[in-house]
Amino acid sequence: MTNPKRYLVTSALPYANGLKHVGHLAGAYIPADIYVRYLRAQKRDVVFVCGSDEHGTAIPIQATKEGTTPRAIIDKYHEAMKQDFEDLSMSFDIYHRTSEPIHHETAQEFFTRLNDAGELETKETEQYFDEEAKTFLADRYIKGTCPNCGSDRAFGDQCETCGRTLSPDELINPVSTLSGKTPIKKKTTHWYLPLGKHEQFLREWILEQHKDDWRATVVGQCKSWIEGGLQSRAVTRDLDWGVKVPLKEAKGKVLYVWFDAPIGYISATKQWAIDNKKDWKPYWQDKDTKLVHFVGKDNIVFHCIIFPVMLKLHGDILPENVPANEFLNLEGDKMSTSRNWKLDMRDYINDFVKKENLPTGQAGGGGQCVDMLRYYLTQIAPETKDSEFMWKGFQDAVNSELVSIFGNFVNRTWVLMHKLCGGKVPTLHTGILDDNDKILIGEIENAKAKIETLLEQYKFREALYEVIDLSRKGNQYMQKKEPWIVAKKLAENPEAQKSIDNTMYLCLQLTANLAIFINPFLPNTAKSMLHMMKVVDKLLDWENAGKLKLLSTGYSLREPQLLFRKIEDTEVNEQIEKLKTGLKKMEEPKKEETKTKSIVKPEIQFDDFSKIDLKVGTIISAEKVEKADKLLKLSVDLGFETRTIISGIALHFKPEDIIGKQVTVVTNLAPRKMRGIESNGMILTAEDKDGKLQLLKPENLVSPGSNVS
Ligand code: MF3
Ligand code: ZN
Repeated sequence: MTNPKRYLVTSALPYANGLKHVGHLAGAYIPADIYVRYLRAQKRDVVFVCGSDEHGTAIPIQATKEGTTPRAIIDKYHEAMKQDFEDLSMSFDIYHRTSEPIHHETAQEFFTRLNDAGELETKETEQYFDEEAKTFLADRYIKGTCPNCGSDRAFGDQCETCGRTLSPDELINPVSTLSGKTPIKKKTTHWYLPLGKHEQFLREWILEQHKDDWRATVVGQCKSWIEGGLQSRAVTRDLDWGVKVPLKEAKGKVLYVWFDAPIGYISATKQWAIDNKKDWKPYWQDKDTKLVHFVGKDNIVFHCIIFPVMLKLHGDILPENVPANEFLNLEGDKMSTSRNWKLDMRDYINDFVKKENLPTGQAGGGGQCVDMLRYYLTQIAPETKDSEFMWKGFQDAVNSELVSIFGNFVNRTWVLMHKLCGGKVPTLHTGILDDNDKILIGEIENAKAKIETLLEQYKFREALYEVIDLSRKGNQYMQKKEPWIVAKKLAENPEAQKSIDNTMYLCLQLTANLAIFINPFLPNTAKSMLHMMKVVDKLLDWENAGKLKLLSTGYSLREPQLLFRKIEDTEVNEQIEKLKTGLKKMEEPKKEETKTKSIVKPEIQFDDFSKIDLKVGTIISAEKVEKADKLLKLSVDLGFETRTIISGIALHFKPEDIIGKQVTVVTNLAPRKMRGIESNGMILTAEDKDGKLQLLKPENLVSPGSNVS
């Protein structure tokens, strides 16, 4: 859809059950904000909605945890999340909440229309019931072992460990989270959305129409859902927290949170329209509206399959795209709230943004820290695969890109313009433009189309790269032109001033262009640049990009201000330390538990131990053993010889990942044949409490054959 009349952009509504971390921010919020700021700069008609998802079992469960009411929980976290988003320069047109009456009405109307049209089915089924608490157990009220990965952190709706969507019946050893008891089965009636009826539509719409313009990861997930057989999904629950099912015969039942939450996008639009005296209807009903949902990968099925079916049945428009992001890990491990391995937006705001003395929106100040985070999260955005937040990576991105390339170019330009051109925009002498000038002009003119195309394709990290690259070209240009050297010869050759003027003129116009290009990504930086250029917001209009007369000759500009400060080693070390301490705090009580439980084998004498010969070896090759899922065939270099060892680690390591690694080997174990191959020794591993294996290896490389004792 090119040049639609209007856009409606959504970011996934976060659950109001706790603070959100930077993984969430990188997934569904920053990319949406970049996209919307770009559209606004293009003067498009765009509404950007978000809000708190305040229903579902997660809310009352959190209330029990905190010893308060569900209402108190949503009020507390709604405010907190809203503030965090604001502090990180998210520019929603409305940040709504699903507890508002307008939302309840909208969701009920939606249900009624579908039900009246005969598009929902009712079914009586047996569901888990807690006899002690006298209640049915929906979603997070039921816990068990994941049938997919074996983790015991699996709930009735989803496994926390592997992310797989589950139904309570799939859980192994289900227990009630209310009483800890094994639940019984009891009959209950629910309303279902028969997805199977819409298979043809979904196939055509996603797998044909959008197979090329949607991300491969998104189409892939949809495909496996469709091919796996589309089951009817219950859209009601036996629960007393949520939007009441608007039917007499459904007493004590509410709409399933995943039925009501996406409708939250519509009710938010309605509220926005009321607040701004606009009509909400075209945004959801006119075919010339481009609807785009920004979400994390665990939300794909809801936004690409279930909600679109609901929208179609309701007679609304469908999303044009769902640019879902994969997950962001932190310092080599999955981000997790329960394990306290995460960086909350709030923590970053307190430790960086709030610590700067100057207000947001001035050069320096808190705004620069907001932009540093926005920069790094965009640079590592998990657009095609999971990615990694590393504090050293953050420091590196800030110091060697924002400070040394982008900031440095702008600063050099300003300092030299004051020194060599009297603080004013010089004249461009077109008659004496040299090749370097012409190349730079070409780069400025071409950047617009390049960046635009990438943004339209939701390739935000590449688009940002192009912006930084343009500033890098500015630095290279300046280095070639060396106006400070030319200035030394002015006494002999006054004509040289013209060359200096041209250089500075082009660097200034490039700076103005950089402000336009960086604005969607780093809005606070763009603001600081406007201040230095002494121009108004209008300059940032996208139609100005690529132009070379943005700052007029003779116009006097402000003194330079540094756009970014460096991130010190101490700052990142503190953060890494904090992360580890937080993790320890969470793990200590657990350790006690496992200590008492762990079984120590019977005592042995030193002589028994010394019979075992342990040496360090280097894995020089590794391959899977045919028809044996768990076995790897390794060649291990022990210095004095190379051994073949069969090891049962194939489920934990990819062969290509362990080649070159050192391991501890039991070298005098009697040979054993496995799958027809003789194994001469054994490698040692450590098993984590979640069953993950690690190779036991020396801290630093040692020569193969080194004794272990
Ligand atoms: N609250 C959900 C989550 O955090 C997202 C809801 S998105 C919406 O995973 F579409 F349902 F609103
Ligand atoms: Zn799992």
